Amino acid sequence: MNFQLTEEHLAVQAAAREFAQTELLPGVIERDEHQKFPAEQIKKMGELGFLGMMVDPKYGGGGMDTISYVLAMEEISKVDASASVVMSVNNSLVCWGLEKYGNEEQKQKYLTKLATGEIIGAFCLSEPEAGSDATSQRTTAEDKGDYYLLNGTKNWITNGSTASVYLVIAQTDVAKGHRGINALIVERGMEGFQIGPKENKLGIRGSDTHSLMFTDVKVPKENRIGEDGFGFKFAMSTLAGGRIGIAAQALGIASGAFELAVKYSKERKAFGVEIAKHQAIQFKLADMATNIEAARLLCLQAAYHKDSHQDYGKSGAMAKLFASKVAMDTTVEAVQVHGGYGFVKEYHVERLMRDAKITQIYEGTSEIQKIVISRELLK
Ligand code: CAA
Ligand code: FAD
Repeated sequence: MNFQLTEEHLAVQAAAREFAQTELLPGVIERDEHQKFPAEQIKKMGELGFLGMMVDPKYGGGGMDTISYVLAMEEISKVDASASVVMSVNNSLVCWGLEKYGNEEQKQKYLTKLATGEIIGAFCLSEPEAGSDATSQRTTAEDKGDYYLLNGTKNWITNGSTASVYLVIAQTDVAKGHRGINALIVERGMEGFQIGPKENKLGIRGSDTHSLMFTDVKVPKENRIGEDGFGFKFAMSTLAGGRIGIAAQALGIASGAFELAVKYSKERKAFGVEIAKHQAIQFKLADMATNIEAARLLCLQAAYHKDSHQDYGKSGAMAKLFASKVAMDTTVEAVQVHGGYGFVKEYHVERLMRDAKITQIYEGTSEIQKIVISRELLK
């Protein structure tokens, strides 16, 4: 693995940092407080190419590698994890899934718009009774000849009310178990498709998370991704890459909190000196920096495996497992370094601490990452 970033990588990183500092930082506290979706900012992210970074330029994407994506995700997440989850879902679940497994017609119709951010997408696997246990799909896609009749409920769907295109996983043939599951492209506005109220969340409050209800929605057969019964593998394969994005999000949350802690420790005085002069604070910073560096290397390694066409299921799961723990630990310590000021909104670290928690839950909980890793180790 080459640890040297190329000029292109550095340019992407710098552009993402600049965007985060100038466009996302102003207003991030208010958006969190009022659960306001960063609509204008997401539009600009699309214009700058952050929503279809890895998509082939012939479909309107940036044609970049996964390392560039990780670097950009880190910078955006340092400031606004609500914006970066939109970016992550659109890039690594929706665009990647469609580009890898969709047919040419589907790519022309949907991917070209998703890659440029003209529209955004959602990935719909979880259900009220099927989260970690994802094969237990209750949503049904009954084969009716030239269309599927979709019935059921998805919950916790990111971009739930802002997406135009939804990749929905549903059971067609129960007798075949996970091999009877399909992935369907559902358009917003299809008859029988309803969007539930926005969830009131602990963190990533600017992102819009909703339940989706499908009642006799007729989805044309041409909207199925891949062969009949490929839907569960589609979801698993897509999530393997998605987890690298969420690992990078966790890394960004951690490094954002760390940077704030360093800055504050050099400004705040206690007992006649900057608190950074107290060894207890220095040791906290040393631990944070070491953990962040290790998380960054795991993220880059998983990205490198993906870019070099090696298996990245295990390395992506390891990156997510580790980086999400580092995000939790670092943000808790960053609040501590800030003392009472860390407990109020103006100093940002309390938000980062709340945002960190979700990285241990979505795209597979930490326990699920351990299942993925240990199965690979033991096979
Ligand atoms: N690529 C392709 N196929 C894969 C795969 C992968 N990475 N991983 C598993 N599969 C295949 C298996 O080969 C198997 O197929 P065969 O039987 O034909 O070989 C099939 O999938 C079923 O696999 P398992 O037997 O391993 O299934 P399981 O029931 O034991 O569950 C699991 C495995 C890893 C726990 C899985 O259910 C899982 O990942 N659960 C977590 C769900 C999750 O991550 N949800 C995230 C929702 S999206 C989201 O959260 C977005 C967001 O927040 C922003
Ligand atoms: P459960 O599966 O019920 O798990 C509960 C607890 O039991 C967890 O600690 C879990 O780790 C543990 N557990 C379960 N099974 C095992 C086991 N075999 N061994 C050990 N421990 C186990 N989903 C989507 O499809 N699309 C999205 O866009 C999306 N966005 C989300 C956004 C937010 C804000 C949230 C909160 C969730 C989102 N999700 C999304 C859903 C998310 O992926 C699930 O919440 C997650 O996979 C866990 O499922 P669950 O909530 O049903 O928990």
